[in-house]
Amino acid sequence: MRAGVVALRPIRVRDAGDWSRIRLRDQNHLERWEPTAPGPWADRNGFWSWPTQWLALRGLARRGQCLPFVITVDGDYAGQITVGNVIRASLRSAWIGYWVSSTAVGGGVATAAVALLVDHAFSAGGLHRIEATVRPENEPSIRVLTKAGFRQEGLFQRYLDVAGDWRDHLCFAITAEETGPGLAARLVRDGRAEYV
Ligand SMILES: CC(C)(COP(=O)(O)OP(=O)(O)OC[C@H]1O[C@@H](n2cnc3c(N)ncnc32)[C@H](O)[C@@H]1OP(=O)(O)O)[C@@H](O)C(=O)NCCC(=O)NCCS
Repeated sequence: MRAGVVALRPIRVRDAGDWSRIRLRDQNHLERWEPTAPGPWADRNGFWSWPTQWLALRGLARRGQCLPFVITVDGDYAGQITVGNVIRASLRSAWIGYWVSSTAVGGGVATAAVALLVDHAFSAGGLHRIEATVRPENEPSIRVLTKAGFRQEGLFQRYLDVAGDWRDHLCFAITAEETGPGLAARLVRDGRAEYV
Protein backbone atom coordinates (compact mmCIF):
# COMPACT_ATOMS: atom_id res chain seq x y z
CA MET A 1 0.00 0.00 0.00
CA ARG A 2 1.34 3.43 -0.94
CA ALA A 3 1.11 5.77 2.04
CA GLY A 4 1.69 9.08 0.26
CA VAL A 5 4.42 11.63 0.81
CA VAL A 6 5.75 11.29 4.35
CA ALA A 7 7.45 14.33 5.89
CA LEU A 8 8.36 15.68 9.31
CA ARG A 9 7.85 19.24 10.48
CA PRO A 10 8.16 21.01 13.85
CA ILE A 11 5.20 20.81 16.24
CA ARG A 12 2.98 23.91 16.30
CA VAL A 13 0.57 25.25 18.89
CA ARG A 14 -2.11 25.35 16.18
CA ASP A 15 -1.85 21.54 15.84
CA ALA A 16 -4.32 21.34 18.76
CA GLY A 17 -7.35 20.60 16.57
CA ASP A 18 -5.79 17.79 14.52
CA TRP A 19 -3.90 16.36 17.49
CA SER A 20 -6.98 16.24 19.70
CA ARG A 21 -9.43 15.01 17.05
CA ILE A 22 -7.21 12.08 16.08
CA ARG A 23 -6.20 11.13 19.62
CA LEU A 24 -9.77 11.25 21.00
CA ARG A 25 -10.98 9.05 18.14
CA ASP A 26 -7.96 6.69 18.41
CA GLN A 27 -8.04 5.94 22.15
CA ASN A 28 -8.31 2.18 21.51
CA HIS A 29 -5.47 2.28 18.98
CA LEU A 30 -3.08 4.29 21.19
CA GLU A 31 -3.79 3.97 24.90
CA ARG A 32 -2.52 0.42 25.50
CA TRP A 33 0.93 1.35 24.19
CA GLU A 34 1.40 4.70 25.92
CA PRO A 35 2.81 5.51 29.37
CA THR A 36 0.21 5.65 32.14
CA ALA A 37 -0.83 9.20 33.01
CA PRO A 38 -3.26 10.67 35.51
CA GLY A 39 -6.78 11.59 34.49
CA PRO A 40 -9.20 10.31 31.84
CA TRP A 41 -8.07 10.00 28.22
CA ALA A 42 -10.68 12.52 27.10
CA ASP A 43 -9.24 15.17 29.43
CA ARG A 44 -5.59 14.46 28.63
CA ASN A 45 -6.25 14.58 24.90
CA GLY A 46 -8.76 17.38 24.69
CA PHE A 47 -8.06 20.45 22.55
CA TRP A 48 -6.79 22.49 25.53
CA SER A 49 -4.28 19.84 26.61
CA TRP A 50 -2.14 20.41 23.54
CA PRO A 51 -0.87 23.96 24.27
CA THR A 52 0.57 22.76 27.60
CA GLN A 53 2.23 19.76 25.99
CA TRP A 54 3.46 21.88 23.11
CA LEU A 55 5.02 24.38 25.54
CA ALA A 56 6.73 21.60 27.49
CA LEU A 57 8.08 19.94 24.34
CA ARG A 58 9.19 23.27 22.88
CA GLY A 59 11.01 24.10 26.12
CA LEU A 60 12.83 20.78 26.08
CA ALA A 61 13.65 21.24 22.40
CA ARG A 62 15.08 24.71 22.99
CA ARG A 63 17.34 23.24 25.67
CA GLY A 64 18.46 20.54 23.23
CA GLN A 65 16.83 17.78 25.24
CA CYS A 66 14.33 16.56 22.67
CA LEU A 67 13.47 16.70 18.96
CA PRO A 68 9.66 16.73 18.64
CA PHE A 69 8.05 16.49 15.17
CA VAL A 70 4.68 16.08 13.51
CA ILE A 71 4.45 13.37 10.86
CA THR A 72 2.54 14.51 7.78
CA VAL A 73 1.25 12.44 4.88
CA ASP A 74 0.60 14.44 1.74
CA GLY A 75 0.75 17.52 3.95
CA ASP A 76 -1.91 16.33 6.42
CA TYR A 77 -1.30 15.73 10.13
CA ALA A 78 -0.81 11.95 10.58
CA GLY A 79 0.99 11.49 13.92
CA GLN A 80 3.91 12.46 16.07
CA ILE A 81 7.49 11.32 16.45
CA THR A 82 9.94 12.45 19.10
CA VAL A 83 13.54 11.86 20.00
CA GLY A 84 13.66 12.42 23.75
CA ASN A 85 15.90 12.32 26.78
CA VAL A 86 18.85 13.56 24.75
CA ILE A 87 22.09 13.08 26.67
CA ARG A 88 25.20 14.76 25.28
CA ALA A 89 28.91 14.51 26.26
CA SER A 90 30.39 11.05 25.80
CA LEU A 91 27.02 9.26 25.63
CA ARG A 92 25.25 11.27 22.88
CA SER A 93 22.20 9.04 23.19
CA ALA A 94 18.40 9.36 23.21
CA TRP A 95 15.17 7.39 22.82
CA ILE A 96 12.68 7.56 19.94
CA GLY A 97 8.89 7.29 20.27
CA TYR A 98 6.06 7.62 17.74
CA TRP A 99 2.38 7.15 16.98
CA VAL A 100 0.45 7.24 13.71
CA SER A 101 -3.25 7.95 13.16
CA SER A 102 -5.32 4.78 12.73
CA THR A 103 -6.38 6.07 9.31
CA ALA A 104 -2.76 6.19 8.10
CA VAL A 105 -1.33 2.88 9.42
CA GLY A 106 -0.07 -0.02 7.34
CA GLY A 107 1.50 1.98 4.54
CA GLY A 108 5.03 2.49 5.82
CA VAL A 109 4.41 5.90 7.42
CA ALA A 110 6.03 5.15 10.79
CA THR A 111 8.99 3.40 9.19
CA ALA A 112 9.67 6.36 6.91
CA ALA A 113 9.28 8.79 9.82
CA VAL A 114 11.71 6.81 11.99
CA ALA A 115 14.24 6.73 9.15
CA LEU A 116 13.96 10.49 8.56
CA LEU A 117 14.30 11.39 12.24
CA VAL A 118 17.16 8.99 12.99
CA ASP A 119 19.06 10.40 10.00
CA HIS A 120 18.44 13.93 11.29
CA ALA A 121 19.41 13.03 14.87
CA PHE A 122 22.68 11.44 13.74
CA SER A 123 23.58 14.32 11.41
CA ALA A 124 22.34 17.76 12.53
CA GLY A 125 21.49 16.43 15.99
CA GLY A 126 25.00 15.12 16.62
CA LEU A 127 23.80 11.93 18.35
CA HIS A 128 25.53 8.56 18.27
CA ARG A 129 22.94 6.09 19.58
CA ILE A 130 19.15 5.91 19.54
CA GLU A 131 17.17 3.47 21.61
CA ALA A 132 13.57 2.35 21.27
CA THR A 133 11.69 0.29 23.83
CA VAL A 134 8.59 -1.60 22.77
CA ARG A 135 6.21 -4.04 24.38
CA PRO A 136 6.72 -7.58 23.02
CA GLU A 137 3.01 -7.63 22.10
CA ASN A 138 3.37 -4.56 19.86
CA GLU A 139 4.09 -6.40 16.63
CA PRO A 140 3.52 -3.43 14.29
CA SER A 141 6.04 -1.32 16.22
CA ILE A 142 8.60 -4.12 16.35
CA ARG A 143 8.17 -4.44 12.60
CA VAL A 144 8.72 -0.68 12.18
CA LEU A 145 12.00 -0.81 14.09
CA THR A 146 13.21 -3.91 12.29
CA LYS A 147 12.39 -2.46 8.86
CA ALA A 148 14.13 0.80 9.77
CA GLY A 149 17.32 -1.06 10.73
CA PHE A 150 17.26 -1.19 14.53
CA ARG A 151 18.64 -4.30 16.21
CA GLN A 152 17.19 -5.99 19.29
CA GLU A 153 19.47 -5.77 22.32
CA GLY A 154 17.50 -7.32 25.13
CA LEU A 155 14.46 -7.37 27.37
CA PHE A 156 13.83 -4.85 30.15
CA GLN A 157 11.62 -6.53 32.72
CA ARG A 158 8.71 -4.54 34.26
CA TYR A 159 10.37 -1.52 32.65
CA LEU A 160 7.64 1.06 32.08
CA ASP A 161 4.23 1.89 33.53
CA VAL A 162 2.08 1.52 30.43
CA ALA A 163 -1.71 1.27 30.32
CA GLY A 164 -1.90 0.90 34.09
CA ASP A 165 0.81 -1.67 34.89
CA TRP A 166 4.58 -2.30 34.79
CA ARG A 167 5.25 -3.81 31.37
CA ASP A 168 8.22 -5.71 29.99
CA HIS A 169 9.81 -3.95 27.02
CA LEU A 170 12.15 -5.15 24.31
CA CYS A 171 15.07 -2.80 23.82
CA PHE A 172 16.04 -1.96 20.25
CA ALA A 173 18.90 0.34 19.31
CA ILE A 174 20.94 1.69 16.44
CA THR A 175 24.24 3.56 16.41
CA ALA A 176 25.46 6.03 13.79
CA GLU A 177 28.03 3.55 12.39
CA GLU A 178 25.22 1.14 11.49
CA THR A 179 23.28 3.50 9.25
CA GLY A 180 25.55 3.37 6.20
CA PRO A 181 24.22 5.84 3.60
CA GLY A 182 21.38 6.75 6.00
CA LEU A 183 18.20 4.94 6.95
CA ALA A 184 16.02 6.83 4.45
CA ALA A 185 18.46 6.02 1.64
CA ARG A 186 18.39 2.37 2.71
CA LEU A 187 14.58 2.28 2.61
CA VAL A 188 14.73 3.63 -0.94
CA ARG A 189 17.47 1.17 -1.90
CA ASP A 190 15.37 -1.71 -0.49
CA GLY A 191 12.29 -0.60 -2.45
CA ARG A 192 10.33 0.38 0.70
CA ALA A 193 10.17 4.08 -0.19
CA GLU A 194 11.02 6.45 -3.00
CA TYR A 195 12.13 10.06 -3.18
CA VAL A 196 9.73 12.65 -4.60
C1 LIG B 1 3.14 1.13 15.60
C2 LIG B 1 2.66 2.17 14.60
C3 LIG B 1 3.41 3.49 14.84
C4 LIG B 1 2.98 1.65 13.19
O1 LIG B 1 2.66 2.66 12.24
P1 LIG B 1 2.57 2.31 10.66
O2 LIG B 1 2.62 3.58 9.91
O3 LIG B 1 1.44 1.38 10.41
O4 LIG B 1 3.93 1.50 10.45
P2 LIG B 1 4.47 0.87 9.08
O5 LIG B 1 3.37 0.82 8.06
O6 LIG B 1 5.72 1.59 8.74
O7 LIG B 1 4.85 -0.62 9.52
C5 LIG B 1 3.93 -1.42 10.23
C6 LIG B 1 4.27 -2.87 9.97
O8 LIG B 1 3.61 -3.70 10.93
C7 LIG B 1 2.88 -4.70 10.23
N1 LIG B 1 1.76 -5.07 11.07
C8 LIG B 1 0.61 -4.39 11.26
N2 LIG B 1 -0.17 -5.07 12.12
C9 LIG B 1 0.52 -6.16 12.49
C10 LIG B 1 0.25 -7.25 13.37
N3 LIG B 1 -0.89 -7.31 14.05
N4 LIG B 1 1.19 -8.21 13.50
C11 LIG B 1 2.35 -8.16 12.82
N5 LIG B 1 2.67 -7.14 11.97
C12 LIG B 1 1.74 -6.17 11.82
C13 LIG B 1 2.50 -4.06 8.92
O9 LIG B 1 2.13 -5.03 7.96
C14 LIG B 1 3.81 -3.35 8.59
O10 LIG B 1 4.80 -4.26 8.15
P3 LIG B 1 5.11 -4.54 6.58
O11 LIG B 1 5.50 -3.24 5.98
O12 LIG B 1 6.21 -5.53 6.62
O13 LIG B 1 3.84 -5.06 5.99
C15 LIG B 1 1.12 2.43 14.70
O14 LIG B 1 0.47 1.20 14.59
C16 LIG B 1 0.73 3.10 16.01
O15 LIG B 1 0.67 4.33 16.10
N6 LIG B 1 0.43 2.30 17.05
C17 LIG B 1 0.00 2.81 18.34
C18 LIG B 1 1.09 3.57 19.07
C19 LIG B 1 2.36 2.76 19.20
O16 LIG B 1 2.34 1.55 19.32
N7 LIG B 1 3.52 3.46 19.19
C20 LIG B 1 4.81 2.81 19.33
C21 LIG B 1 5.09 2.47 20.75
S1 LIG B 1 6.63 1.60 20.89
